[in-house]
Amino acid sequence: MCGIVGYLGQKSPVPLIVDSLRTLEYRGYDSAGVAYLDDESLLHVYKASGKLLNLEGILPNELRLPTLPAESVNGHRNIGIGHIRWATHGAATNVNAHPHTGSRQEIALVHNGIIENFYELRQELQAKGHQFVSETDTESVVQLLEHLAETETDFSKVILKALQKLQGAYALTVISKKFPNHLYAARHQAPLVVGVGKDQNGNDEYIVASDAVAIVNHTNRLIYLKDGEIVEISPAGLRIMNLQGEQVEPVIETISTDPLTIDKKGYKHFMLKEIYEQPDVVRNSLTGRLQSIHQPIWILGDTPEQEGRFDAHLSAINRIVIIGCGTSYNAGLVGKYFIEELVQLPVEVEAAGEFRYRNPFISDRDLVITMSQSGETADTLAALRLSHQKGAKVLTLTNREDSSMAREADFVMPVRAGVEVSVAATKSFTAQITALYLLGLSLAEKRQTLAPEQLESLKAELLKMPARIESVLHNTEPLQVLARKYGQARDVLFIARGVNFPVALEGALKLKEISYIHAEGYSGSELKHGPIAMLDSNVPVVSVLTKGPVFEKMISNCQEAKAREARLIGITNTPVPNELRDTFEDILEIPESVEHFSPMLTTIPLQLLAYYMAEYLGKDVDQPRNLAKSVTVE
Ligand code: AGP
Repeated sequence: MCGIVGYLGQKSPVPLIVDSLRTLEYRGYDSAGVAYLDDESLLHVYKASGKLLNLEGILPNELRLPTLPAESVNGHRNIGIGHIRWATHGAATNVNAHPHTGSRQEIALVHNGIIENFYELRQELQAKGHQFVSETDTESVVQLLEHLAETETDFSKVILKALQKLQGAYALTVISKKFPNHLYAARHQAPLVVGVGKDQNGNDEYIVASDAVAIVNHTNRLIYLKDGEIVEISPAGLRIMNLQGEQVEPVIETISTDPLTIDKKGYKHFMLKEIYEQPDVVRNSLTGRLQSIHQPIWILGDTPEQEGRFDAHLSAINRIVIIGCGTSYNAGLVGKYFIEELVQLPVEVEAAGEFRYRNPFISDRDLVITMSQSGETADTLAALRLSHQKGAKVLTLTNREDSSMAREADFVMPVRAGVEVSVAATKSFTAQITALYLLGLSLAEKRQTLAPEQLESLKAELLKMPARIESVLHNTEPLQVLARKYGQARDVLFIARGVNFPVALEGALKLKEISYIHAEGYSGSELKHGPIAMLDSNVPVVSVLTKGPVFEKMISNCQEAKAREARLIGITNTPVPNELRDTFEDILEIPESVEHFSPMLTTIPLQLLAYYMAEYLGKDVDQPRNLAKSVTVE
């Protein structure tokens, strides 16, 4: 959460920083701010609560034009920092917006993360006369820098001393009017990337940002800073050191920028575009991994050595532990149902924020799978590290191959969803479950837990899923009607059983997060253990009914709900017998598939229902209140 940007080069920094912040708005939109040093080394700060648009509205005209101020004078380069906030400490107000400055207005700083010992630092510094103005943890850092700079003239030493005092997580960028040619940035448990590029005139320029998406319009040469690294950028070039002050050799990677390009492609919202991309997402996920029903499945898809190493590990494990948050957790649950049934291997699914703070039993006979679209979720990353400490090998299923999790895991399976901008995850869920299906099939193949004909038939079914998803997406009109009909509901329940139970959780999560309607997902069997008390004629119950072992059970659960006057909406892949149709006020039919893969289809109407309800209610679909796409604080 929170996005930070820093620039040092010959261009006008503010328009460039604002453009980069626009690509980071998925990380938060509670406030935005920029600070820059002018040619006389005066520090200017602009900040506004709310979205980036509000900041743009208060910027003077000359700061919106990319050509002004033109070339730097007096040998000073153009330097600035910017921030997009997801509030943790202190409300989303102007005064709490970043950049923060010290009492003497000499230093400006932007920060992503949480400084855990901020209060102690604040009290110490207040006792020494520093005047605090905000409620943020960040202000303690900038005041500390200003305090240390009173007695130390080497600013890199000031930064180093300050960082050594911090506890918690941070990615930060700092400028100082006393060192106008210097941009500093550092990270500890929060992502930070440095772009090393050239402007049109061949001058060196550097962009520091929380995510490569904010840099790739300028350069594809990136340095991914590691935890505890500090970068100093000056006219002399770039220097990296660690928290002990030792020099670290920079490693510049050249990346392909195509997958990071962001475009709505004519859709009203990113969420709708991303929902419609799902057939191609599944095709991409299968490409090179499941070529034909007669060939073995290829999981990691990079090199035979990597695949061989992974296979060797798979043959040694006796349990899988899948860890994730939110939608990634729900996707993990689908994996549990599928893999456990097909491979007869225990699979546990854990919420990362719980896993990391107990003392879980994990050993080198476990395969830990961290599921994360962003690859940066703080709790999931911490769970990955804890699993390593306990001796397990970790496979990360992520949509970002350049993420911290991808870098730290032993094995990486890219889920290949393409950039997901909307805060509500849709295509990444489908990509994640596709990856888990492939993993399950591959394990069944290697452990020979399925007869060859069964395996081939499942492979054939999986290859048919993209076309079936397409046909669900061709029938959206009924969902738009349902959205208008039930859009005023206060509470909505989602019920399902078996492998679709996680789909009920996911459907409820989607609806809550973008429409703010209270929604809960339950196993149909759990209704009578409590939630049924909520039901009356005002409560729509969305029921997922798929052909298979739990169809009749679900019908009974629906009738129990109907007997309490609930309004039943059935999403089904098999005709509901005529005598039972009255149980449902509305029925939406979707294509049939084997039970195992049905979540790939049942999820789509629930995503669309949430989308159309939120749109009908006039909500901010892509940037729902209080949320951020990448949760890099715990
Ligand atoms: C889903 O719509 C969410 N916005 C959220 O639950 C998300 O899935 C969760 O924060 C985990 O993110 P990750 O996959 O990037 O780790």
